[in-house]
Amino acid sequence: NEKMTTPFTEIGEEKLHRLIDIFYSHVSKHPDLAPIFPDDLTETARKQKQFMTQYLGGPPLYTSEHGHPMMRARHMPFEITETRAKAWLSCMNQAMDDVGLEGPFRQDFFSRLVLTAQHMINTEEMAK
Ligand code: HEM
Repeated sequence: NEKMTTPFTEIGEEKLHRLIDIFYSHVSKHPDLAPIFPDDLTETARKQKQFMTQYLGGPPLYTSEHGHPMMRARHMPFEITETRAKAWLSCMNQAMDDVGLEGPFRQDFFSRLVLTAQHMINTEEMAK
């Protein structure tokens, strides 16, 4: 069989888009995240759909429109602390529950996101 299977074809575009929309609805309500995100997350979600499509082995939609992802560099304008990375991942974990992602697919996808989120951290926590 010549058909290419990738994590992107496994989840499918419709479910990936649903996951991302639900993820940003959680982000918009999270006290650690809402302050650093724009009020209107439409454009953020659109770019994240493009990025995650290529991250999961689908067509390079993000690069076609925005150039090299350079995700860590693009996050430098924002203070990404360990607390915020954990919050980001908890919103994603919740969204994965909401859309019913399960099994090894979910575990592999989530583990990759943990590594990527850790890589985005650019700010030490302030002592309380
Ligand atoms: C953009 C926060 C992790 C992918 C952004 C923006 C913020 C942010 C504030 C700007 C939103 C806007 O102005 O539209 C965070 C925080 C993270 C995190 C706190 C915690 C670690 C991640 C991870 C990924 C990711 C793990 C990918 C797997 C993106 C993408 C954009 C973005 C694709 C849009 C970039 C663009 O403007 O072209 N993020 N992010 N982020 N983030 Fe994150």
